[in-house]
Amino acid sequence: MLEEKLGDEAAGKMLELYDSAPFPDSMQGMLPNTNVLLTPWIAAVTKRDEIFRAGFRILLAGCGCGEEAIAMSKLFPDALIVGVDFSENSIQRAKNRADECGLKNLSFHRADLTQQKDFQGFEPFDFILCHGVADYVSDPDELFKTFKLCLSENGVLCMTVNSPNHPAGRIRKAFRELGIDPANFTDSTEQRRLLQLLDKLMANDSGLVGIGNSPKAYLDVDIFAPIAHHHNLSAWNKMAENAGLFFVGSMDAVLGLTKVTDAELPMLFALGKTALSFWMSELCRRPGIQMLFTNQPSKEPDFTNLKRLFEYRPKLDACLGVLPPLAGSHEEAKQLTIRFEGLPDFVVNAKAYDLEVLRRCNGKSTVSEIIDEIGLSGDEESLRAALYRLYHYGLLDLTGL
Ligand SMILES: C[S@@+](CC[C@H](N)C(=O)[O-])C[C@H]1O[C@@H](n2cnc3c(N)ncnc32)[C@H](O)[C@@H]1O
Repeated sequence: MLEEKLGDEAAGKMLELYDSAPFPDSMQGMLPNTNVLLTPWIAAVTKRDEIFRAGFRILLAGCGCGEEAIAMSKLFPDALIVGVDFSENSIQRAKNRADECGLKNLSFHRADLTQQKDFQGFEPFDFILCHGVADYVSDPDELFKTFKLCLSENGVLCMTVNSPNHPAGRIRKAFRELGIDPANFTDSTEQRRLLQLLDKLMANDSGLVGIGNSPKAYLDVDIFAPIAHHHNLSAWNKMAENAGLFFVGSMDAVLGLTKVTDAELPMLFALGKTALSFWMSELCRRPGIQMLFTNQPSKEPDFTNLKRLFEYRPKLDACLGVLPPLAGSHEEAKQLTIRFEGLPDFVVNAKAYDLEVLRRCNGKSTVSEIIDEIGLSGDEESLRAALYRLYHYGLLDLTGL
């Protein structure tokens, strides 16, 4: 009961903070909003060729002053975009901004994401982006229930949160150990100097360089927030599962794999999509977590069993639909590079032979049948590595499981 009361109080305090300094205006341009850059990855990982088609419904959950929604609206003019936030002041600013830009495919509404009744009137959404919100809600289980209610049958939820490695936890601990209560951050000269020192000491490792000079309004809602869950990936996944949603991928696996060579890859073959994400997330300790959930569970191919693997029917994602034609000798090594603007390059090293197999992937023939069709023997291990990478980057569907 007491916990409930404290939760309510803290939630009220969060609302007060966001309402008095709407986000991201409170950042005074210090943080670039790069969330929309996640969309090519999302489109690929979720294998939804038709993503962001006409009439596609996108929910920006916790939209703040509407910056993300406006960027999305310009990027996907045929989609219908809805932004919600529990801060009236933020919603008002978002509406004004959209009017100024003359954008017609978006609307903004005041709604509390932990209250399902606030969402009864909305049609299901095909894509929900919830960036930088879940850490600060009093009851994240309720948040997932709302998402379950709002997500269309084939919809995708992208949630980004701060991980347990986010610098906020270290900063709060350092303050406490020096006798300053982080719950009462006043931004006195003494506290600001301490923050600047911590910023310098944590340096690049923090993922948030320049935090020492951030505006107080931002520090209040991020570093010294009354609610800041900072759970790990598996805790978020558990909550999603309880609400009936399924984990389909994280940037941890994608970014981690870019550092793994083909020779090292077999050590990871036993890890399925979920296991690889959890493993990378715990190991690489990035400050943020970007996760995707859907309404349907995905099946895991067995990469340890080459014979079984080659019985699957692979289908390349639309963004790889047109691969370069094979030129020169089959023995010649080629490099296929998949680039997504604004994100680190996803590099798939594929030999010409692998490339030809991939090029013929159509979802109907098995890998073995395609190999037979080409009529040349190739290096099965390098082909397995190429398939593994593409599968984990979300660019390959392996049907017939
Ligand atoms: C850190 S800001 C992120 C804003 C935006 N997603 C972005 O990245 O620019 C968090 C936003 O979530 C909103 N928020 C927090 N708890 C909420 C809740 N329970 N219901 C609706 N909005 C909430 C806040 O008002 C704030 O605008």
